[in-house]
Amino acid sequence: MRPRFDADLIARYGGEGPRYTSYPTALQFDDAFDARAWKRALGESNRLPIPADLSIYVHVPFCFSPCFYCGCNRVITRSPFAGQEFLNDLEREIDLVAPNIDDDREVRQVHLGGGTPTFLQPMQIEQLIRMLKARFRFASDAEIGLEADPRSLEPEDLPQLRRIGFNRLSLGIQDLDPDVQRAVNRVHDLARIASIFGAARAVGIDSISVDLIYGLPLQTTEAFARTVEDILNELRPDRISLFNYAHMPHRFKAQQRIKGEDLPTPTVKLALFRNTLSRLLDAGYEFIGMDHFALPDDDLARAHRDGTMTRNFQGYSTHGGLDLLAFGPSAIGQVGDAFAQNHRGLPDWQADVRAGRLPIARGLVRTTDDRLRAEVISTIMCTGEVRYADFEQHYEFRFRRYFADALARLEPLVDDGLIEWVEDGFRATAAGLLFLRAVAMAFDAYLQPAGDSSGPRRFSRII
Ligand SMILES: C[S@@+](CC[C@H](N)C(=O)[O-])C[C@H]1O[C@@H](n2cnc3c(N)ncnc32)[C@H](O)[C@@H]1O
Ligand code: SF4
Repeated sequence: MRPRFDADLIARYGGEGPRYTSYPTALQFDDAFDARAWKRALGESNRLPIPADLSIYVHVPFCFSPCFYCGCNRVITRSPFAGQEFLNDLEREIDLVAPNIDDDREVRQVHLGGGTPTFLQPMQIEQLIRMLKARFRFASDAEIGLEADPRSLEPEDLPQLRRIGFNRLSLGIQDLDPDVQRAVNRVHDLARIASIFGAARAVGIDSISVDLIYGLPLQTTEAFARTVEDILNELRPDRISLFNYAHMPHRFKAQQRIKGEDLPTPTVKLALFRNTLSRLLDAGYEFIGMDHFALPDDDLARAHRDGTMTRNFQGYSTHGGLDLLAFGPSAIGQVGDAFAQNHRGLPDWQADVRAGRLPIARGLVRTTDDRLRAEVISTIMCTGEVRYADFEQHYEFRFRRYFADALARLEPLVDDGLIEWVEDGFRATAAGLLFLRAVAMAFDAYLQPAGDSSGPRRFSRII
């Protein structure tokens, strides 16, 4: 179904909301959950009748210079030693975790994120993958992906990356307009990105994704339309993420360098979103959910169509049901019902791994209620549709009775045309597809009581 833009609904439902890369969200993590609890959870995950296969996330925290809009956990440095020192520490962390995981569990997915993984030299990235392969068994068709900043990836690096096993690439573009790029301290041109694309395609990288952001300083509808045209005509990436710029200068210091008067007005911002949405749909991209688009023959679009897509800490994914091991500062892992987050700060993370301690800062163990809500929320975020019977089969409960409060919270959304009741369930309308987070929020037991909007922003805006 093609999502429909409705300005009135955006005014009412486009406010803040969790991105639901997990439920409960990381805000609920508690520092009472410690390294011992994580170790116990890792051990228990081996003892299930069929232990889950594995996904691995590595957070490489470094960047060469700060992009002013950035809300990621990163450390700005030009030190030539930072990368190698990090790899040494990372090896210590992997050595603390790997003995807790049975050898026969296969790694089906690896993702290097950050910060900027391409801060590392290709040789160092190879070392990192070798470190993992020495301790975990990789499936022969494992999906291995890398987030890359076009300024720190050379087209000549692609053959080596492919040989190491990378078959997914995600490039941060954000905007191609020179004025916008200067205003956010991130200057790179299309020619360079096109040559990276060419090299990636030539070596057979299966899926290339790009990140764009709307709402950046000095963006205009005309100039952003040119960015979108260039990306469609010159690159035609398999996937596009169209992020809504989350301006939270109280949380991210670099954002204080963005002048408030340079930000597009809410009207312009909406137009940026509306125009890009319709252009991407017209160009043949499928709307996957939230801020994601994919070409119809991309794995993610296929998984979306056949209902197998899932949502995890990396966003939408084709791989469900995996246990997630996460390495590096701030990285979040999940095995079964346990979540654990590493220390956010590089020094704290380093201190723990050097002392031989798992660097866990906080986490939680989901209750049965959490798990049930997590499944409902993930189903909403991935399919926009809930059938009560699907849940009643797995949990002994009556959906309507158990979730009476949540369903009552959905009534205004039905009245406003975001969702509609269907036999034994509900589903998002074309207009509601853009507000899946607002629908999911009705099932979130941890949200502040309605009406309490005091305090600083905690979540990004839905639109
Ligand atoms: C870790 S970065 C990507 C990798 C690499 N460091 C780069 O910049 O190319 C992840 C993505 O988050 C998005 N992002 C970062 N800060 C954001 C913000 N404040 N609002 C919306 N999106 C943001 C950007 O699109 C960025 O490409
Ligand atoms: S957007 Fe990427 S390169 Fe820029 S500061 Fe953030 S993580 Fe680093």
